[in-house]
Amino acid sequence: MTVMPASLVTGAAGFIGSHLCERLLQAGHRVVGLDAFTDYYPRAVKEANLGTLRTRPDFRFLEVDLARADLAPVVAEADFIFHQAGQPGVRASWGREFDVYVEHNIRATQRLLEAARGSARLQRLVFASSSSVYGETSDLPLREHSPTRPFSPYGVTKLAAEHLCSLYHANYGLPTVALRYFTVYGPRQRPDMAFHKFIRAALQDRPIVLYGDGEQTRDFTYVGDAVEANWLALAPRAVGQVFNIGGGSRCSVIQVLASLEEILGRPIRRDQRPTPPGDVRHTWADTTRAREVLGFSPRASLQEGLARQVAWLRMTAPPESG
Ligand SMILES: NC(=O)c1ccc[n+]([C@@H]2O[C@H](COP(=O)([O-])OP(=O)(O)OC[C@H]3O[C@@H](n4cnc5c(N)ncnc54)[C@H](O)[C@@H]3O)[C@@H](O)[C@H]2O)c1
Repeated sequence: MTVMPASLVTGAAGFIGSHLCERLLQAGHRVVGLDAFTDYYPRAVKEANLGTLRTRPDFRFLEVDLARADLAPVVAEADFIFHQAGQPGVRASWGREFDVYVEHNIRATQRLLEAARGSARLQRLVFASSSSVYGETSDLPLREHSPTRPFSPYGVTKLAAEHLCSLYHANYGLPTVALRYFTVYGPRQRPDMAFHKFIRAALQDRPIVLYGDGEQTRDFTYVGDAVEANWLALAPRAVGQVFNIGGGSRCSVIQVLASLEEILGRPIRRDQRPTPPGDVRHTWADTTRAREVLGFSPRASLQEGLARQVAWLRMTAPPESG
C-alpha cells in the first residue's frame, strides 16, 4: 500500500491557503486544513473559499487558533507544513490593532515552530512571508540580501516571524523555508485588496478609491504562481533559505486600471485620495534565486490573471466585506 504524504495547511480558508489545499490534493497529498476564521474579513467569504474542499475524502478541516490551541497533536501527523495563516493588510496594522498582528503573525508562528520542533516526521515548514519586510527603498529590484527595513507595523510582524523560522532552523535544524510573496491576486483575492475592490466597484458602476497618483508600482503575482512556489519549496536545496516570489508583472496602478478597463469594456471612475501611511512607493522582485534553486518561473501574465479574477467576481459575487 502506498502511503500518501500528509500536509498541514494553516490559513486554509484564506485566499492563498485554499488554493494551496487544492493543489496539494491534486498532487496526491492528504491535507489537513486549519483556520481560525479571524474577523479580518467575513467568515462567509472564507467558507466560500473552502468550497468543495470540505467534501473531499482526503481533506480534513480543523477550526483551530494557532495562537491558543495545543498544536502538538496537529503537527505530529504532518510531513509538510505550509504556514499561510496570518493577519494580513498593511493599512490596518497601526494603533491598537497592532496587538492582533503580534498575536496572529508572531505568537502564532512561534507556537507552531515550537510544536514542529518536537516532530520526528516533519520534512518541511514553508512560511508565507511578504515583500513588506523590505520597506521603502529606491534600490530596485529587491534581492533577498537587500536590507529589510519594514515601513509598516504589519511588515515588522512578518519579518519577526520570518526570523523566528530561520532561527529555529539554525538552532534546531527545523527544515524551514520562507517565501516572500509580492502582491498576490487572482480568484478569491481578499476583499480588502486593491484588485478586488477595483473590479467590484467597476462591476457595480461605482468610482474606485485611488490612493496617491497611481504611478506607484507593484510586482503583481498570480495566485497559481504563488501556490506553485510552495510546491517547489519542497526541493531539498530550499531548506533554510528565503526566496522572493514575484509574478514578473511589475506595473503601476494606472496601468492595471487601463488593463481592467479593457477587460471590462468600460471606463473606471476614480476618487483620488492621499497615500495612506505604511504604503511603499514601489516593489519589484528579483526572482533569480527562486528560479535557480526552486525552478520557479511565473506563468500567468497580468492580463490573463486579471481576466480570471474578473470572471470569478462576476460569477460568484461573494458576500460584501461589510
Ligand atoms: N495576499 C498577498 O498579497 C500576500 C502578500 C504577502 C504575504 N502574504 C501572506 O500570505 C498569507 C496568506 O495571505 P492571504 O492573502 O491568503 O490572507 P487571508 O486572510 O485570506 O488568509 C489567512 C487566513 O489565516 C487565518 N488565520 C489568521 N490567524 C490565524 C490563527 N492564529 N490561527 C489559525 N488561522 C489563522 C485567517 O482566518 C485567514 O483565513 C498571510 O500570512 C499573509 O501575510 C499575502
